[in-house]
Amino acid sequence: MPFYQRLGEMPQKRHTQFRKPGGGLYREEVMGLEGFSGLQSILYHHFLPPRVQEVRHLGDARPEYSEFGGVRHRAFTTGEAPAGGDPVSAHRVLLGNDDVTLGISRPTDSMDYFYRNGQAYEVWFTHEGSGELHSQFGLLEFGPGDYVVIPYGTTWQMRLNEEARFFVIEAPSQIQPPKRYRNNFGQLTEFAPYTERDIRTPHDLETHTERGEFEVRVKVRNQISKHVLDHHPLDVIGWDGYLYPWAFNINDYEPITGLIHQPPPVHQTFEGWNFVVCSFVPRLFDYHPEAIPAPYSHSNVNSDEVIYYCDGDFMSRKGINQYDITLHPSGLPHGPQPGVTEASIGAEKTEELAVMVDTFRPLNVALPALELEKTDYMESWMEGDGE
Ligand SMILES: [Fe+2]
Repeated sequence: MPFYQRLGEMPQKRHTQFRKPGGGLYREEVMGLEGFSGLQSILYHHFLPPRVQEVRHLGDARPEYSEFGGVRHRAFTTGEAPAGGDPVSAHRVLLGNDDVTLGISRPTDSMDYFYRNGQAYEVWFTHEGSGELHSQFGLLEFGPGDYVVIPYGTTWQMRLNEEARFFVIEAPSQIQPPKRYRNNFGQLTEFAPYTERDIRTPHDLETHTERGEFEVRVKVRNQISKHVLDHHPLDVIGWDGYLYPWAFNINDYEPITGLIHQPPPVHQTFEGWNFVVCSFVPRLFDYHPEAIPAPYSHSNVNSDEVIYYCDGDFMSRKGINQYDITLHPSGLPHGPQPGVTEASIGAEKTEELAVMVDTFRPLNVALPALELEKTDYMESWMEGDGE
């Protein structure tokens, strides 16, 4: 996140001696993006960071994709998707390309190991449940509606308070607030739909100095490796910088409304390389006396559109339920189903809550999504005579 944070202890000047009470040096680690030119933080560890007792290869992490077939709108129902395991092991990619993958996780258990994604940012949108993200940067609690954004390179463990349901976005690029909402200094501007005050950062740094065997699963090169450390991986005494996990709650998004129907970019919350993340939140509808609140049909010719339906009645969709995911691919228009547009006239507000991801390159459908598919979705526009 492009604002400075510091937690714990550190020397007054970087790259200078910083000693433990016993006299030995704390071990400095510079963790940064874009070859020392991007966002970075400096962490001070109790143990030497590269120290790994055992390395094992656990397997391939690439999603398996299906043939798309004839281009058509598609929908998937995740409400009854199997639950079990911990957040990382329960993560199932449903849609993806080289820029981003979208999936779900329905864990019932906390993690008993640590995890580090060395190749991608991860956003864990917490639809249901709550818990704690423990990382080298400290503690970050999360609950319903939180986007938990975890930069690559972070070593973390999630502990759940109860069963949870996540929509997971993973991307090998930085996920950040849209550039148009930030000034030259990175600060969110007065016309941004949220500000730094809405962003929660880690607190209560945990400095573990225990020895023993600790498992860290590392994802990189599309493979999972198991690293066994001879010390606790969360051994940081202090850190400062701009790179760390953070959380933003979808209910803190300040919707932008207008005289007439506002286009999807007003809902944009984050951006990554070749995709955007948008939040549809409860809001007042358009206030022109002749306004049509439902959207017009649109051909998003440069993007595939994915919506994860969280809560409320999504005003432009029929036959879509909570927990469903729709995929409206580029190449054909989409819009409200028959009857929806007339029915929307006169409505003053909506209680809908949904997360949308628009990708600028086509998405593939992963094999686990086929079992969840609502195969009749394309027919939902065929009611009536089509006028
Ligand atoms: Fe759309």
